[in-house]
Amino acid sequence: MQRRALELKRAGRTIGLVPTMGFLHEGHLSLLRLARARCDVLVVSIFVNPSQFGPAEDLDAYPRDFQQDEKLCAQEGVDMIFHPEAGTMYSDDASVWIDEELLSRGLCGASRPGHFRGVCTVVAKLFNLVQPDLAVFGEKDAQQLRIIERMVRDLNFPVEIIRGPIVREPDGLAMSSRNKYLSATQRNDALCLQRALGRTRELVQKGVVDTAVLRQAMVELINEVPEACIDYIEFIDDESLAPDEIIKDRTLVAVAVKFGTTRLIDNAILNVH
Ligand code: PAJ
Repeated sequence: MQRRALELKRAGRTIGLVPTMGFLHEGHLSLLRLARARCDVLVVSIFVNPSQFGPAEDLDAYPRDFQQDEKLCAQEGVDMIFHPEAGTMYSDDASVWIDEELLSRGLCGASRPGHFRGVCTVVAKLFNLVQPDLAVFGEKDAQQLRIIERMVRDLNFPVEIIRGPIVREPDGLAMSSRNKYLSATQRNDALCLQRALGRTRELVQKGVVDTAVLRQAMVELINEVPEACIDYIEFIDDESLAPDEIIKDRTLVAVAVKFGTTRLIDNAILNVH
């Protein structure tokens, strides 16, 4: 992959990369379209990265369908799929890792220790292998996106990071490969995330800016679903990811809720005018 990428670069072609773990859905495809419009050679990586899964997490169960992914990539005009084996990506005695030390502390970083270390390391490796001029990441994983932007800034990667908006199902559920795990009841229960974010937006529009009040309203809505188990609801500064007590110009509200064993995340940007 790296040899091919360096040849392309020497020939003056620009490379765009969309890193994924496969089982592609419309959310992923929207990122492919954003990248397609801005580069000569579009590379999609499909790699279920073991190092970002905790020991009790769903690495083995994570959904995979490479044939379908290939079809979708062909439809979107992808030039190359980079689909490495775990054994080729990591040496058994690999001993260098990238640890982002600030933005990864809270939210998913708190409930999934080591997760962002795995994400940063694999994304850095992908950047070295694919040599992209630009890479697209989704707002769905808001914390991941900001951590990658910080890594690029702090380690001087020559890669432009492009943000892709959240793509949702018609009823508002944010698309995710993990939605496949949900039973019909849980799929319906999961809409409480969207209802809770919608309620917060409404309240902010009405002038409520105290995040403790907003949080309580969200907790009440989500707890109406007996099976929903809140992991976190956080109101944070969009850049520093530090908690905001009062809604500011760009406050990010991020939620993680478990339905049975499936953990879903969603988020929204709140604005006071
Ligand atoms: P994965 O979950 O497959 O997601 C790949 C990319 O698609 C991420 O940038 C994610 O934010 C984006 N994405 C997922 N659902 C989306 C939606 N509904 N709308 C918009 N974008 C969406 O995130 C990962 O893989 C991995 O951590 C990875 C970055 C590939 C590193 O292993």
